[in-house]
This record gives sequence, structure tokens and C-alpha cells, in this order.
Amino acid sequence: MKAEDVQGDLTEVLFSKEEIEAKIAELAAAVDADYQGRDVLLVGVLKGAVMVMADLCRALQGQYPMDWMAVSSYGSGTKSSGVVRILKDLDTDLSGRDVLIVEDIIDSGLTLSWLRANLESRRAASVEVCALLRKPEAAKTSIDVKYVGWDIPNEFVVGYGLDYDEKYRNLDCIATLAPHVYA
Ligand code: XMP
Ligand code: MG
Repeated sequence: MKAEDVQGDLTEVLFSKEEIEAKIAELAAAVDADYQGRDVLLVGVLKGAVMVMADLCRALQGQYPMDWMAVSSYGSGTKSSGVVRILKDLDTDLSGRDVLIVEDIIDSGLTLSWLRANLESRRAASVEVCALLRKPEAAKTSIDVKYVGWDIPNEFVVGYGLDYDEKYRNLDCIATLAPHVYA
């Protein structure tokens, strides 16, 4: 789906399909350079990270096995509370593995800090994070995100895996959602 298909619902296209593709290639090159020759497990966080994972893993050189987790953050509405429930766990044993968490967006960072601690507690050799987007609140925290695509303003964004009420995930760009949609 393209921005034109849902034009009235969006206020601004932040990143086009082409810009996303270029950014993913940049992130993949950095990951390849850092991990060359190592056996790294990519851990995608469902569902938002599906597009990032699909494109990032194909832009990477060499073997990068992948696994998925689904988590839900307890809390009301659009704000995460940091209390996380695992809806789908990994199939892979992490002991001694290098792990790269692949995320769509980090907002408060609470979900990610929980996830990272959880994976570290499984005796992974290392746990790093690659997120396409990061909002200012998370940028201020001390969570160390090794690979970040873009820091974005504190607005609700959709597209490229990111949804509002399960809609707009299949939008090929990333855009800000018009307030009338969620009002
Ligand atoms: P925290 O606050 O724990 O939460 O970092 C991150 C998760 O919140 C969702 N999220 C968004 N989803 N547009 C979305 O479609 C947004 O602007 C947005 N901000 C946060 C997302 O699920 C992310 O993994
Ligand atoms: Mg997510």
C-alpha cells in the first residue's frame, strides 16, 4: 500500500520506500562489519519488526539465522508500562550465542530494556539492538542501542510494519498519522 491509498489519514511521509531501503542497507553494512564471521541470531519482535527483519536479513551478507518473540506490554492505551508478558517465546537456546534484537521502534524503551535483560538472563554471549526508529524519550535513556536508523519526533508513526489498531502495517513508507484517525 502506498501513501496515496490512505492519503487523508496521514499528515506527513517521514521516510519514503527508497529512503528506508537505503537506511536498511547502511544498517546491514554496519552489522556485517561488526559481526563478520560470527554466528549471530537475529531476534525479531512481532509484529512490528517483520518488515525491518525481512529487508535487513536480505541485505546482510552470510548466514544470519532468525527467531521471533511476541511480547505484550501491560499498560493502558498507547503508553508502555515496562511490565511485559511473553506471548510467543523463542525456539532457540541462547546460551553462548550472539544475539541481535531487531526492532521497529523504541519509544519509552521500557519494552526493550525488559527484553534485553530477559535474553541476557538466558546466558547469551552478547545481546545488542538494531532499531529502525527511536523516539526522543528513548534517546534520553541509558539503554545502549548499537544500531539506530533514525531518531524521530515524538509523534505516532505508522507504516513499514508499524500499525495503528492493526492498520497501515503494509504501507510501504513511514508516515505520521493524522490525529482525526485516533481521536
Ligand atoms: P516502548 O515504549 O516500551 O514501546 O519503547 C515500544 C513499542 O510501542 C509501540 N510504539 C509504536 N507503534 N507507532 C506505532 O505503530 C508509534 O509511533 C509507536 N511508538 C511506540 C511499538 O509496538 C513498539 O515496539
Ligand atoms: Mg514493536
